[in-house]
Amino acid sequence: MDPIFALAAPHDFDPTLLTHVRTGVEYWIHESEALAEGAGVTVGAARTVRPATGPALRCRGWRQEGLLRMLENTVAIGERPADLVIYGGAAQAARNWDCYDTIVATLRDLGDDETLLMQSGKPVARFRTTPDSPRVLTSSTQLVPRWATWDVFHDLQARGLMMYGQYTAGAWQYIGRQGILQSTYETLAECARQHFGGTLRHRIVLTAGLGAMGSAQPLAVEFLGGVSLICEVDEAKVRKSLDAGYLRTATADIGEAVRLVNAAATSGDALSVALHANAADALPRLHETGLRPDVVTDQTAAHDALDGYIPAGYTVGEATALRIRDPDRYQREALASIRTHLAAMLAYQDTGSVVFEYGNAIREQAARAGHDGAFGFSGFVPLYIRPNLCVARGACRWLALSGDPADIETIDRAMLERFAGDASVTDWIGIAMARVPHQGLPARTSWLDYRQRLEFATMVNGLVAAGALAAPVAMSRDHLDAGSVAQPTRETENMLDGSDAVADWPVLNALVNTAAGGDLVALHQGGGSGMGGSVSAGLTIIIDGTDRTQARLDRVLRTDPGLGVIRHADAGYPASLAAVAENGLAAPMLPGPGHPA
Ligand SMILES: NC(=O)c1ccc[n+]([C@@H]2O[C@H](COP(=O)([O-])OP(=O)(O)OC[C@H]3O[C@@H](n4cnc5c(N)ncnc54)[C@H](O)[C@@H]3O)[C@@H](O)[C@H]2O)c1
Repeated sequence: MDPIFALAAPHDFDPTLLTHVRTGVEYWIHESEALAEGAGVTVGAARTVRPATGPALRCRGWRQEGLLRMLENTVAIGERPADLVIYGGAAQAARNWDCYDTIVATLRDLGDDETLLMQSGKPVARFRTTPDSPRVLTSSTQLVPRWATWDVFHDLQARGLMMYGQYTAGAWQYIGRQGILQSTYETLAECARQHFGGTLRHRIVLTAGLGAMGSAQPLAVEFLGGVSLICEVDEAKVRKSLDAGYLRTATADIGEAVRLVNAAATSGDALSVALHANAADALPRLHETGLRPDVVTDQTAAHDALDGYIPAGYTVGEATALRIRDPDRYQREALASIRTHLAAMLAYQDTGSVVFEYGNAIREQAARAGHDGAFGFSGFVPLYIRPNLCVARGACRWLALSGDPADIETIDRAMLERFAGDASVTDWIGIAMARVPHQGLPARTSWLDYRQRLEFATMVNGLVAAGALAAPVAMSRDHLDAGSVAQPTRETENMLDGSDAVADWPVLNALVNTAAGGDLVALHQGGGSGMGGSVSAGLTIIIDGTDRTQARLDRVLRTDPGLGVIRHADAGYPASLAAVAENGLAAPMLPGPGHPA
């Protein structure tokens, strides 16, 4: 038996426990990741950040205060707060602590007609703009296209000139694994509909990675009644998932893991098992044991061969030491392991498993490592998600700036009433109310389409105005959205018109949302695909109950999802062409009204 983990007995969700977790908000405050084994290097000084809560303002208005609380929240629940590293390998919220402190001081002083400019995590300028302009504009990890390589980036990063912003880290929109939980659920639910009659009961999902995003996988599989086996090389991440109630049990013994998942799949019980092992070692060995999972995917941070993926044969500490001592060798070994890992995924596909990439660029990295057949399976967006994006149905999120979970519950109940006719919304809100613990500032997600986003925001603005909530609400969305990202191995993989690599759309998205008056508008490069892999745009609006904000909501919640519908209509998707006409969107070159807005 595994010497490390006491095998926690599989248990059903205990509502009392969840109530406890939901009211006692969960924060991950770490000591510094401390000493890299053998390297004798301290990776940053411990520092504790928590978001302010309650009705008191530290800034000159709620828009600045709301963005400040989002920044604080992002850091508080990030994976390595001491280094301002939030998720997805080495994605940061600010370039360094000096920058962080200056951002905080500037937001506290920023006027209602000023805009703060962020250049890759460094506050570089503030300008007088207008009351309806964004309060923060941020650009992260932008490199001139021919120079957008990891080598150039690492050199700039080492000289303090740049940081990796990913999606929601550099845009201060991170809400922990809650942010991806519904997306993982929606992806797997569609996979289940297409292959297994709509359920994962009696099915095994094999994957890897229990990091910031990957740790949503076991719970999402469980929501669909299935059994998951997740390889994770870092014992601390396994423990964290167990403690958070997202994971049922763990072992370091392959035989034990196989026995557990096979038994649960046979009996039809939902179960999640973490296997404390390196995926590049474990996947081939699991295949040799005869394990034949129904679904195989991966959520290690394979997109980043230096800071994201741990090569086979190293403990986490040894890997940290090697990364510092010999980064070139580290990357060579990581890429070789990624190649082995991907080859095992292909072997599972050959023996009947449904295999897909879940947005971590593992195919592209294996191809870099010389695997000729790396693109032998598809990404999750063309397989399962694109019909949603065609009608701008995407992952919206909102945070109670009060810090009071009761605000989220009030909005939940209002949503159940307002969207009673749409089971895709109400079913999820029901699951989330019962089973999704808060992490950091109380938050919620829901996939909402073009019309529903404005309807939702208007409803919340009314609730704030009526005093039904303790404080304003921040509304944001994933960068993985209809018109806000170009990522040819992910969101824009295999577009109908072949426009996968066209990045004008996210740039236009950021520009038009700035014109329309979002509170924070972000334009990032790299994202979940790594250097040179994507361009994406983020948006946050602070819903403060005022008429002036309602006017901005009326604009920005048309421009943002509207461009997503138009982007897909322009590519020729029939559902998007219909949505352009139905919603009176003006797209002069497309059939439909085409009137000037
Ligand atoms: N599908 C999506 O929509 C989506 C969304 C967000 C992120 N992502 C991508 O998913 C990946 C994971 O994101 P994250 O935020 O969880 O990253 P993270 O860095 O927080 O976690 C990665 C985890 O993988 C583990 N790991 C690394 N190498 C391993 C190996 N060889 N074997 C086993 N475990 C290993 C690490 O210990 C860590 O726990 C990233 O590539 C990210 O870009 C995809």
